[in-house]
Amino acid sequence: MRFKPDLTWADVTPKADFLNRRQLMKGAAAMGIGSIGGATMASANAPASIYSTDEEPNTLEEISSYNNFYEFGTGKDEPAEHAYRLTTSPWTVEIDGLVDNPGMYDLNDILSQVTIEERIYRFRCVEAWSMVVPWNGFELRQLLERVGVQSSAKYVAFETLVRPDEMLWQNYDILEWPYREGLRLDEAMNPLTIMATGLYGEELPKQNGAPMRLVVPWKYGFKSIKSIVKISLTEEEPETSWNMQNAREYGFYSNVNPEVSHPRWSQASERRIGGGFFATRQPTQMFNGYEQYVASMYDGMDLSENF
Ligand code: MTE
Repeated sequence: MRFKPDLTWADVTPKADFLNRRQLMKGAAAMGIGSIGGATMASANAPASIYSTDEEPNTLEEISSYNNFYEFGTGKDEPAEHAYRLTTSPWTVEIDGLVDNPGMYDLNDILSQVTIEERIYRFRCVEAWSMVVPWNGFELRQLLERVGVQSSAKYVAFETLVRPDEMLWQNYDILEWPYREGLRLDEAMNPLTIMATGLYGEELPKQNGAPMRLVVPWKYGFKSIKSIVKISLTEEEPETSWNMQNAREYGFYSNVNPEVSHPRWSQASERRIGGGFFATRQPTQMFNGYEQYVASMYDGMDLSENF
């Protein structure tokens, strides 16, 4: 079974004036505008999400020029330089495993069935830098509910595209391609977990994981896998790229935790990108500040381990 498309990206034209919108939101009442990130906002008066931070977002320039996307190079400035090669349309996402409706889904079909909203999230990389990012996207649970998760499913596995002609660093053994990530099913269904399709009301820049990437704001950034082409519902914990590369340093869960050091550096504080060279580091928050929404999922788990 396929989603029935009633809206395609071609139908989606107006570009939101984000700055203007921020001013409006700060002023009278929270106002939404037009369409963002590949689908129409549910309501022209959509209130700001309760999950959004009111911290000042990083600039689009900062968010799209300091990246980790090893398929396009290992330097922070390399993805912005090389990701233009990626063809993002058409884009198909295979959904398989323990679901009622497995299949190859056109991204346009998926986007026609979900509600895109803005989520301004803190984003904390395991390397101890951070940003505040105004994503546009939809809750992953909307997609999972549509395809029908079977009761035996316990995990969700994700894969990035493999296309070495466009993703030139896939010709090197930096990581085992495709880049893979995974979540426990309850983590995937948590309302904080989104599939991002836009930034600042515009289509997602390719270096940020276009056309669709995961964002899990209470986990270290490497869990937020980019340019996703495959989603599998599984019974077993899936293999994940950084864990396969170095299991001692990168656990499957990798929840942000200032009290558990990375084997090679402290995680107690972070450098906010854009703060300038002399900016003081700021303390890292437990679960990156999302404790109230996610901590209960880990009741009974030993949080003193880098798991
Ligand atoms: N996804 C893929 N496919 N390849 C990658 O190299 N890097 C991860 C994550 N997702 C990565 C990826 C890491 S380490 C981080 S910190 C974030 O993407 C960076 O996201 P950003 O560039 O949008 O800030």
